[in-house]
Amino acid sequence: MDTKIINDINDTTLTEAAETIKSGGLVAFPTETVYGLGGNALDPTAAKKIYEAKGRPSNNPLIIHLAEPEDAEKYCYTNEIYYKLAQRFMPGPLTVILPKKDIIPYEVTGGLETVAVRVPSDPVAHRFIELAGVPIAAPSANLSTKPSPTMAGHVIRDLSGRIDMIIAGDDCDIGVESTIITLSPKAKLLRPGLITVDELREICPDIEISDAVLNQHTGRPESPGMMYKHYSPRANVVLLCGSDEARYEFLRDKTDCGILCYNEDTELLRYRYAKAVGSKSSPKEQAKNLFARLRDFDEIENITTIYAPMTASEGIGLAVLNRLIRAAGFEILDI
Ligand code: TXA
Ligand code: MG
Repeated sequence: MDTKIINDINDTTLTEAAETIKSGGLVAFPTETVYGLGGNALDPTAAKKIYEAKGRPSNNPLIIHLAEPEDAEKYCYTNEIYYKLAQRFMPGPLTVILPKKDIIPYEVTGGLETVAVRVPSDPVAHRFIELAGVPIAAPSANLSTKPSPTMAGHVIRDLSGRIDMIIAGDDCDIGVESTIITLSPKAKLLRPGLITVDELREICPDIEISDAVLNQHTGRPESPGMMYKHYSPRANVVLLCGSDEARYEFLRDKTDCGILCYNEDTELLRYRYAKAVGSKSSPKEQAKNLFARLRDFDEIENITTIYAPMTASEGIGLAVLNRLIRAAGFEILDI
């Protein structure tokens, strides 16, 4: 399949992309979090095509993307908390899970009775969804198991030849996927993101945090995506848990390995395969760069292991750590 790449983004080209969605095709598009791989969320065949293009198991449900928070009325059973969350955080990087209405096919929800809704704030995403006039089902636009795409080039690399169109916009501002909260039946954080637990608590004081956020799942996960291998570069990632000095000492002879470190780790940045993810004091910067840095290691042919620091888990840091732990397949070394 020939994939059309749209570099010149305007109402004419976005209308063409919207038409592609309406006629059952797949279009990758930028959002403020990561790039998404979109299809018509009312069309079971489009959902099947999304799973196929990504190589993703079809029981891992998709988020539906809406132009306005009120559009959720048509697709799921909303409640007061949804609207409180919407007022505070939408449009923006928040996904809310609610009981689905019949119009949403089970192919989109992986067979579940609930559906995940999100209203992106990115202007290109917003206009594209508005022009499509249908909800757009979109997982992250990467091949399954790979780090999520935060730059158009990542999407082109993973999905060229597998989908109809790629809207090649700017790099994503946030860099990690949306915060996911379920309200069905009660408030629980399923995936951390830029919107933090403390912020959510202001609206849902009793919010619980799923065990799966930082632990390997046992039994049936609340969010099917939590059980799969995720965010993984080609080389094996290992997290180092200990002081900066212990990290420097441990890495002293690891000159052939990939090293993900902080901007401040001048000691490590001298190494051949070291890359900085951001300042140690800025989890926000780490979030923005994490997936791109993990992908950069794929370009270095001969490395088989990447060592990364166990990052702080407070605030936005929880989102970074959640992705890193999964990238490492839960391999953590006490040093
Ligand atoms: O920021 C984002 O959310 C990006 C952009 C493109 O919007 N999308 C994204 O989609 O990250 P995806 O498919 O890569 O991750 C969605 C996660 C999966 O872990 C999935 O299992 C979970 O949401 N999910 C979707 N619907 C669900 C449902 N009804 N119940 C529980 N988990 C659900
Ligand atoms: Mg994903």
